[in-house]
Amino acid sequence: MAAQYLWSLLLWAALLPIADIGAQVQGQVGGSVLLVAEHPPSFQVREAIWRSLWPLEELLATSFRGSLETLYHSRFLGRTLLHSNLSLELRPLESGDSGNFSVLLVDTGGRAWTQILQLKVYDAVPRPMVQVFIALSRDAQHPKTCQALLSCWVPNISDITYSWRREGTVDFGIEPHGLFMDGQVLRLSLGPRDQGVAYSCIVSNPVSWDLTTVTPWESCHHEAAPGKASYKDVLLVVVPVSLLLILAGLLSAWHWGLCAGKKKKDVRADEMATETENTLV
Ligand SMILES: *[C@@H]1O[C@H](CO)[C@@H](O)[C@H](O)[C@H]1NC(C)=O
Ligand SMILES: *[C@@H]1O[C@H](CO)[C@@H](O)[C@H](O)[C@H]1NC(C)=O
Ligand SMILES: *[C@@H]1O[C@H](CO)[C@@H](O)[C@H](O)[C@H]1NC(C)=O
Repeated sequence: MAAQYLWSLLLWAALLPIADIGAQVQGQVGGSVLLVAEHPPSFQVREAIWRSLWPLEELLATSFRGSLETLYHSRFLGRTLLHSNLSLELRPLESGDSGNFSVLLVDTGGRAWTQILQLKVYDAVPRPMVQVFIALSRDAQHPKTCQALLSCWVPNISDITYSWRREGTVDFGIEPHGLFMDGQVLRLSLGPRDQGVAYSCIVSNPVSWDLTTVTPWESCHHEAAPGKASYKDVLLVVVPVSLLLILAGLLSAWHWGLCAGKKKKDVRADEMATETENTLV
């Protein structure tokens, strides 16, 4: 009887215009989120039905004649909590939980109120990795300047924003002309006055952020610190490896050539043999 009433409510609600669309709620993987059932103040709630609309249509929780029920077989089973004010808490959140949800409220006079909420779940941003690449200036006028490329990286999680901060100075941020690849790479020209100045790469998404701070001037003076590589270091690796590859290529070409030569010789010997046979016949 109760279940029948519930389903007739749902069918009936499908025909109603939606009262409130598109409240956006953000959550973090592993965290919790509260989907709030809002309604006009005059609305005396008697029944409430929470559903997931997309990507799967599922019944999540109901409040029916004062009893709260959340044990519906859905992907949120065991992760839902229906509060007495009819807000629905989901936790712990998983990365696939993003989607659209609806709550249907029915008041004591039989009026209905539907609200749709859009939940977006984001991963927590990990600490970025910053690498410093250095090119020493050959400019005779500014022998002490140093060109640095700072590259900031996090695994490819979605909706990431990169930004940079020059630490310890009252500064209006980083000039945009020094930024490349959506802010992932920062180019700096460092002089002696930048000694000890630290730069931070800040990565963020709508729910979290993290940063890593480096002092690029240290790399300009070949203080080989872990996680820092200079253009020279890159060359030290790239040049021997390409030499080896070229050598390997030459060797295999020589070997191939040798085999081919041998085959030709064999063929010639065969021909001579057939000729000899011919003369014998
Ligand atoms: C989810 O809701 C938003 C806003 O209400 C809407 O724009 C979007 O199309 C919906 N997504 C799906 C897949 O229904
Ligand atoms: C409803 O109840 C929850 C849990 O007690 C609370 O966090 C929330 O602020 C309340 N209000 C609304 C409007 O959801
Ligand atoms: C990250 O990269 C892998 C492999 O290229 C891909 O399968 C995955 O969808 C990516 N993740 C995100 C959040 O872009």
